[in-house]
Amino acid sequence: MVGKEHVTMIPSSPKTIWSATVNGHDVQAIAPSNAILLDVLRDEVGMLGVKRGCDLGTCGCCAVLIDGEPRLSCLCLAGQVEGQAITTVEGLADGAHLAPIQTCFATHGGSQCGFCTPGFLMSAEALLNENENPTRDEIACAIEGNLCRCTGYQQIVDSIEAAAEIKRGDAPASSPASDPHPNPHPEGPDEPSMPPGHAR
Ligand code: FES
Ligand code: FES
Repeated sequence: MVGKEHVTMIPSSPKTIWSATVNGHDVQAIAPSNAILLDVLRDEVGMLGVKRGCDLGTCGCCAVLIDGEPRLSCLCLAGQVEGQAITTVEGLADGAHLAPIQTCFATHGGSQCGFCTPGFLMSAEALLNENENPTRDEIACAIEGNLCRCTGYQQIVDSIEAAAEIKRGDAPASSPASDPHPNPHPEGPDEPSMPPGHAR
């Protein structure tokens, strides 16, 4: 009879202290010993740029660099990368200055809704760190594990080609999109006055 069966609960895994270097900072987090890296990065370390798409290893949204190598954080146990250097999309920019790959995605239409963009940026960064002069076929190969439902991919390949030119010194690095805004929090217009009794 429903409700009278004895259900055996699976004991949760013990929590341990996890430590790694994330975007150049030593971090520690308390997490179950079987925690997924994606969960630890988002929920414990606060790296919300690491996106949860499919959770199955098929979309590439959760890609990060582990010691420079691209990995899917949804398929990786945090314990497997204990003590290693992890780079997330938050680690690409230099302060207020976007990395060339970020600037080029912005200027070449490589990002539309943006949900897939962190994963593409990490795959592209890994490629350009290894190969500053990739062919379009090599670019396509490097991003074959990343899915985008908005752009049609051509603009993404264009963006990565453009970033490669900057990395090689064949194109200027600076662009208005990478310069810090002189006033990043400008005051908006005055709020419209509301008639008495209307909540905002
Ligand atoms: S969330 Fe990791 S591959 Fe989709
Ligand atoms: S920009 Fe929307 S999914 Fe790629």
